[in-house]
Amino acid sequence: MDKLVIEGGYPLEGVVEISGAKNATLPILCASLLTAQALELSNIPRLQDVATALKLLGQMGVTRTREGDRISIQAAQVDSLEAPYDLVKTMRASILVLGPMLARFGQARVSLPGGCAIGSRPVDQHIKGLEAMGAKIEIEAGYIVAEARRLRGARIVTDMVTVTGTENLMMAATLAEGETILENAAREPEVTDLAQLLVAMGARITGAGTDRIVIEGVEKLHGAAHRVMPDRIETGTFLCAVAATGGAIELRGTRSDTLDAVLEKLREAGLTIECGDTWIRASVAKHNGANRLRAMNVRTSEYPAFPTDMQAQFMALNCIADGTSLITETIFENRFMHVAELNRLGAHIEVEGNTALIHGAQSLSGSSVMATDLRASAGLVIGALVAHGETLIDRIYHLDRGYEEMESKLAAVGARIRRVGADRS
Ligand code: UD1
Repeated sequence: MDKLVIEGGYPLEGVVEISGAKNATLPILCASLLTAQALELSNIPRLQDVATALKLLGQMGVTRTREGDRISIQAAQVDSLEAPYDLVKTMRASILVLGPMLARFGQARVSLPGGCAIGSRPVDQHIKGLEAMGAKIEIEAGYIVAEARRLRGARIVTDMVTVTGTENLMMAATLAEGETILENAAREPEVTDLAQLLVAMGARITGAGTDRIVIEGVEKLHGAAHRVMPDRIETGTFLCAVAATGGAIELRGTRSDTLDAVLEKLREAGLTIECGDTWIRASVAKHNGANRLRAMNVRTSEYPAFPTDMQAQFMALNCIADGTSLITETIFENRFMHVAELNRLGAHIEVEGNTALIHGAQSLSGSSVMATDLRASAGLVIGALVAHGETLIDRIYHLDRGYEEMESKLAAVGARIRRVGADRS
């Protein structure tokens, strides 16, 4: 199992190219099931989760060819309408095949994802929404077994804001008979990116990016081309890295308008940030003595508020900031597993329910730590980049699920970071 070895204390200087967004790519790949024609997609990141999605679609009969960041994907002939447990358990977003399969083929069998490290994460809202559209759904031996002659439009009010829930129902509604209204819809930019592709495929959708999305079903969708939006979480993670280490970096191929809440907090912490349409420059003098980052309170919430996927990275920043801060996690019930690991690096964090109290320390010190989930790993990388001495991060397969070549991107801007195999060779 690969590990990362990081020697902390080096400022970051240079340019980083941001990859396409994982959380936009996964639903977009699943949207290929909605038509027999090909989708020509670009800015597709090379990630373990993308490989898992392609494997799942491949098992169903979807053909795809990949060249660099481009994928041509076509569901002309789909011969299996099943998403098996062994794939769904490694990637919960596999649930995104349910809506498209049911809408186009009238049947689907998708494993229930089960819990994951950050919480129980049920999919009841996906099921409730599809039932409201006329699907008959049974849970059989851990599988969601769904059937519908043709889905019908419905007004669906989800109990909470759910990102993949909104995406699944929006995809299903594109081929339903009549109008579907999704109330309390997720406003995340990845939902809007998916809607843009669906519209290019012939879907009739208005309101994506607001909490009320209206979809007028059509008989058929067709092929389309689409460039996936930049990854706002990768962008935010690199901004946190430079905030932690000091230095100056330019992030290219990104979109600052998807990061308002994150940029505001980083400015509050003391980072100087300049934005253009497709780039962000960030700099901070090396924080020694008087020049430390300022501690900031953070509360995660749905977009456009502060994203839960940036919580661990901000926790790492607060560990070395001047002052005491509170981080409140409102989306997932168990998303503080990085706390124990950051404390191993010398941080002072206490957790009470869904709130962490962080006493900023002058410095952290290198140690051996373990990644527990995708964004927790990113928090540990940031802690390690600033810690004195060497940190060994184990279980970085979590990081590989969602960050494209993180260590080479960081090394290119001056971080002392390398990947080693299980025997540290
Ligand atoms: C997506 C993102 C993930 C991000 C999360 C919150 C993808 C592939 N993943 O995950 O990176 O951390 O949004 O921004 O886009 N819930 C239910 N029942 C449901 C659905 C959700 O109770 O049927 C709950 C969840 O347990 C959670 C909350 O609603 O507490 C929000 O979850 P949701 O937005 O669905 O997260 P994901 O779409 O899984």
